[in-house]
Amino acid sequence: MRCPLVIGNWKLNGNKRIVSDLITIMRNELRSIVNCNVAIAPPMIYLALAKSYLEGSQIALGAQNVDIHLSGAYTGEISAEMLKDIGAKYIIIGHSERRTYHKESDEFIVKKFAILKTVDLIPVLCIGENEAENKSGQTEAICAFQIDAILDNLGIKAFENTVIAYEPIWAIGTGKSAEPEQVQKVHKFIRSHIAKYNSAISKQIIIQYGGSVNITNVAEFLVQADIDGVLVGGASLKAEVFAEIVKIAATVKAKQV
Ligand code: PGA
Repeated sequence: MRCPLVIGNWKLNGNKRIVSDLITIMRNELRSIVNCNVAIAPPMIYLALAKSYLEGSQIALGAQNVDIHLSGAYTGEISAEMLKDIGAKYIIIGHSERRTYHKESDEFIVKKFAILKTVDLIPVLCIGENEAENKSGQTEAICAFQIDAILDNLGIKAFENTVIAYEPIWAIGTGKSAEPEQVQKVHKFIRSHIAKYNSAISKQIIIQYGGSVNITNVAEFLVQADIDGVLVGGASLKAEVFAEIVKIAATVKAKQV
């Protein structure tokens, strides 16, 4: 049985006080949570501060980006070794906002995936189609294409101990989440695509859904067999709401055992 995973992606939000407030409430709310892995991914500049507040809790630290180099003359970048050094665990790559606003290509994302694996950090590979691709029935082809970029370059073993986050672009930050049954179909497709190369990895890989997840819809996603967790944006900025999402995830998945 896969342990559910809930990650809060804070995006470009927060300040020192918010980091302190949110983590204090979350720690308190999630003190006794079992059977659910939880992480938060604050902005880079607050990672070390967040880590200090998370010390001794079950909430892991995530990051929203990584550079493709480990060190050197790359002004403004943050390396996988640095993320490892400050205690991050899950690193979000391939997010549609970076693909769109920073023109990140699949080839570039492959390099990020590869460098994370060299230092044993867990890539959270975001994939997903835009609205036009969704309407024209290309969802599975887009997901396969984005996964194949990694598979073709790094091989199936690279997917050991990793996370895929299926995030339909039209559902991100819009309040218009995808239909849970539809998401289940896509997740099943993703898992069977991985299974063609390695059945054990396909059974172990965590496939999250992301896109306007909130307290009211999270259970409908997590009752689905192949939805192992959620990547939460906006709703992760309210500590009580995020904690409630985690509690629902733990309860819903515990019933599936
Ligand atoms: P959202 O963002 O929950 O605000 O839709 C999700 C994401 O971008 O990961």
